[in-house]
Amino acid sequence: MSAVLKRSLPAFRPMNLRDLGAVLAIERAAYRFPWSEAIFRDCLRVGYCCWVLEHEAAVAGYGIMQVAVGESHILNICVHPAYHRQGFGRALLTRLLEIAREHRADTALLEVRPTNDAAVALYRHMGFHEVGVRRAYYPGHRGKEDALILARSLAV
Ligand SMILES: CC(C)(COP(=O)(O)OP(=O)(O)OC[C@H]1O[C@@H](n2cnc3c(N)ncnc32)[C@H](O)[C@@H]1OP(=O)(O)O)[C@@H](O)C(=O)NCCC(=O)NCCS
Repeated sequence: MSAVLKRSLPAFRPMNLRDLGAVLAIERAAYRFPWSEAIFRDCLRVGYCCWVLEHEAAVAGYGIMQVAVGESHILNICVHPAYHRQGFGRALLTRLLEIAREHRADTALLEVRPTNDAAVALYRHMGFHEVGVRRAYYPGHRGKEDALILARSLAV
């Protein structure tokens, strides 16, 4: 069997409360200002689309999205730093956009720090463009940081 066939492919499944330990560990490893456990619990409780990406039987990333009245809002997308630049972020985002279409959303929206080069590059790569700025949106070590608002159509 070739090395390509032996390597397991990432799989997606809905997040559940038992994932929170792994999800929080990734969140804290990946962000300077991580979400708290309470925020993840709230996202699950209110029924946001919360998905994990599994690789070799472990959670390697996750995405959280709210869908309402034709619009999807991507709230968090995160890959464990050990797996960066292996296509997992793109796979997660692609899956979230598919789910948004299944919910009949026609646009996708998200916020991103302008200094987050990897995320901005990923989003632009996936067809998002800038539609606005939210002033003083993110916490920072020296005051608040603005957020870029990016959007894309979900029409195929
Ligand atoms: C942003 C993030 C999800 C990207 O995940 P990833 O699995 O490393 O990304 P992928 O391997 O799927 O990359 C897809 C494309 O995004 C762009 N990209 C990703 N990381 C990049 C980087 N560090 N520098 C430049 N471009 C990058 C590239 O265009 C890349 O395509 P290529 O590898 O063919 O050149 C990941 O860096 C992460 O989890 N960061 C911490 C959490 C975060 O900031 N989330 C976004 C909040 S708005």
